[in-house]
Amino acid sequence: MKHLIRTDDFTIEEIEDIFTDARKFAAGENGNVKFDRILQDKIVITLFFENSTRTKSSFEIAAKRLGAEMVHLDAAKSSTAKGETLVDTAMNLDAMNPHAIVVRHQNSGVPQILSNHTKSAIINAGDGAHAHPTQALLDLFTLKEHFGDVKGRKIAIVGDIKNSRVANSNIELLTRFGMEVILVAPPHFLPKTTLRTTHFLKEIIDEVDVIMSLRTQTERHSSQSYASLKDYASDFCITTELVGDRDIIILHPGPVHRNIDICDALLADERCKVLEQVTNGVSIRMAVLKKLIHDI
Ligand code: CP
Repeated sequence: MKHLIRTDDFTIEEIEDIFTDARKFAAGENGNVKFDRILQDKIVITLFFENSTRTKSSFEIAAKRLGAEMVHLDAAKSSTAKGETLVDTAMNLDAMNPHAIVVRHQNSGVPQILSNHTKSAIINAGDGAHAHPTQALLDLFTLKEHFGDVKGRKIAIVGDIKNSRVANSNIELLTRFGMEVILVAPPHFLPKTTLRTTHFLKEIIDEVDVIMSLRTQTERHSSQSYASLKDYASDFCITTELVGDRDIIILHPGPVHRNIDICDALLADERCKVLEQVTNGVSIRMAVLKKLIHDI
């Protein structure tokens, strides 16, 4: 059984297959295609130890559209609260013979560890600051739907990159597909990297095709690096004044801190693809479930 822990678990060919399926599923969402219930004999469990609006709901919609049954284990009410280990939790869920377990955890590496103990597919829905593979897949899909080929396109990833699993997964995936990634952040939000970096978005805004803003992940900070998020926003909020009339598209994985990550006016601008990303998340997760528990 194949698991999805990181974006590099899939080859470029497998990702292109996923995008082909996602396009068919997206057409179905628009009412043109009836979804085949190809997962109607399958069971998918979600196990989220961190909050989620988009990822959890879209996995549920994706699984239901393909006919799978969903079981949601409320992590706070699970027997981990009585001292059961995560591995024992996964092994016990696995003993009920589900086909996939979708896991989100605040600690990097948890999905990888669990995948060593289950016969069902482990799908990483975000682990600490490590990886969020389905988010990166839906981000790349959104870019490919907009640009066609993304090779040679430039993207600025802006914000709390060091603590961002979304940035990690996107850096791996987007560079593999030929994009140039520029990291824009204050020094304490920049990871060690061989990529080009700057502290000033204005320096590179005329070069880029895409700006991906990230949420400042205060839950992963050991100390507050800015006096307030407002101070951070004065340097790094993506505003209409900053973007002007440039032909640039704006992405954000959500949840957005309005007027800290991106200003209200730009969130309402047609160049902002944030809700398109969310819509694409359902089709991508349908295609990922198909790939992992139907095709393989
Ligand atoms: N992008 C993302 O992971 O959003 P949620 O935390 O709401 O799932």
